[in-house]
Amino acid sequence: MTIETSPDPETPEVPETEAVSTLIGTGGEWWRSAVIYQIYPRSFSDSDGDGIGDLPGITTRLDSLAELGIDAIWLSPFMTSPQHDAGYDVADYCDVDPIFGTLADFDLMLEKAHALGIRVIVDLVPNHTSWDHAWFKEALAAAPGSPERDRYMFRDGKGPNGDEMPNNWESVFGGPMWERVTNPDGTPGQWYLHIFDKSQPDLNWENPWVRERFHDILRFWLDRGVDGFRVDVAHGMIKEAGLPDYTPPADAGSMGGGTADALVGLEPGIDADASADPPTPPYWAQDGVHDIFRGWHSVLEEYEGERVLCAEAWVEPLTKLARWVRPDEMQQAFNFTYLSAGWDAAELRTVIDGSIAAFATVGAPSTWVLSNHDVVRHASRLALEAENLQGAGIGPNSPGLPDPVVGLRRARAATSIMLALPGSAYVYQGEELGLPEVIDLPDSARQDPTWFRTDHEKYGRDGCRVPIPWEAGSPTYGFGPAGSTASWLPQPGDWDELARASQEGVADSTLELYKRALALRSLHGLGTGTLEWIPGYGPEVIAFRNNGVTVIANLGQTPVELPAEGPGEVLLTSEPLNEPALPADTAIWLL
Ligand code: GLC
Ligand code: MG
Repeated sequence: MTIETSPDPETPEVPETEAVSTLIGTGGEWWRSAVIYQIYPRSFSDSDGDGIGDLPGITTRLDSLAELGIDAIWLSPFMTSPQHDAGYDVADYCDVDPIFGTLADFDLMLEKAHALGIRVIVDLVPNHTSWDHAWFKEALAAAPGSPERDRYMFRDGKGPNGDEMPNNWESVFGGPMWERVTNPDGTPGQWYLHIFDKSQPDLNWENPWVRERFHDILRFWLDRGVDGFRVDVAHGMIKEAGLPDYTPPADAGSMGGGTADALVGLEPGIDADASADPPTPPYWAQDGVHDIFRGWHSVLEEYEGERVLCAEAWVEPLTKLARWVRPDEMQQAFNFTYLSAGWDAAELRTVIDGSIAAFATVGAPSTWVLSNHDVVRHASRLALEAENLQGAGIGPNSPGLPDPVVGLRRARAATSIMLALPGSAYVYQGEELGLPEVIDLPDSARQDPTWFRTDHEKYGRDGCRVPIPWEAGSPTYGFGPAGSTASWLPQPGDWDELARASQEGVADSTLELYKRALALRSLHGLGTGTLEWIPGYGPEVIAFRNNGVTVIANLGQTPVELPAEGPGEVLLTSEPLNEPALPADTAIWLL
């Protein structure tokens, strides 16, 4: 075939003043094929110059997201919080933390997003509260055995003086999962469970009072007009009765996931049953969680429009994860098996098949995701030369650090594969700029509790959370207002070229690749299409057809010949092509 200059795809018109009501009840189950853009508020756009992104900052940048062509945004937590885990430690679920703004700022942001045709999903953190939450303070002030203590997971210690922990569980962030409290009279008291930091005590979800409060919290945000919730740690809320001791296998990621090979658990066409499940840790993926989400499903049904729940559940295999999205539970679950897959065509094919098959058994779409605020950005991760478990992060002394050029090339190809798959896709802020993981953050700047709780053994997740660059040539790359030099994590000195404005309109930039892919995805209905593998390519090639679009990706090093006959119009290439062959780490869409 010959390479033709590709015509610009039609960029879908962005409605300027579409009213909220036009988003409600469109009947198309929008979430089945939506591209959902994750905003990590503290690193997105800072309107007041305090170095922390905020809600007014988001509002001013919404036009650029509409231009990008996404369907919805998901905001990581902006509720009242002492910020010991960047807001995933909530002290008041029904208010905005002053560092992010006010409820009125939220309402304005929501209104503008809806006017632009962008849905809004907020992050809800139900597994634990902050230790600053009024419920926890009341629990500390109350006696053992009281209703206030029963809202959390308090236990007496073992041993004659109760000074041994109730069991051997280890926190996701390192160190023990238990913290001992001091009684009002100064004597040592009971212990409380915290899957994460000690500032994040776990709630007792067996307690109906807790369940009722969260129904109120859901209604609070639904009344304000949100389109749904991303549900934090949706696999951790129920613990096995008796809290038995448990030691995880060495290859388990901190959130309970392992390597993608182990996670699929499904040969195409074979529906693995529950008896084939791998052993379940006593604090992850307990069957009892499903009843909670059935209750939440009913609350969402009280509201008009299509509101959604999306599970953050690090559950394997996919056939088990599919239980989170049964028809009376959530609408979506993040596909971390896909995210965890290596840069390997055979592995990807298996995961893609396994995903579509597993979710199809419950009538749910598959989702796809490559990056978020908890994992090494895919422009770096895909070129890592050493194993890196989820949550560990990378820093200057990590083994097998990635070649940034190879990483970005693979990331662009990986995104070109992902955005052509049927189902819903998640994009994490900054990946549309090709941002790498920031590896060389000074130790003194790191803030992830993982860094502290592992005595600096694990770098943690700060490297994917650095404030994103908007414009070249300003001290914060336009993250903050003019004149501001503040950024809660330092930005690298060489990001001018990666800034959004530097990439705007530049044909081969990563930003334009994302825009083009998103516009074509919508034009050709790829999100609602059907995947059909194309046979005849070597083992290092991904080749499929979806709604008439042919996608070929070369994950190997040997150039791959493109079809001599058949589709001829080049819609998109992840790298500029000079000859009719697909070089290493490159993807192409053909019509
Ligand atoms: C989820 C969040 C992560 C947070 C943890 C505890 O995994 O994505 O950022 O640290 O929950 O809330
Ligand atoms: Mg600010």
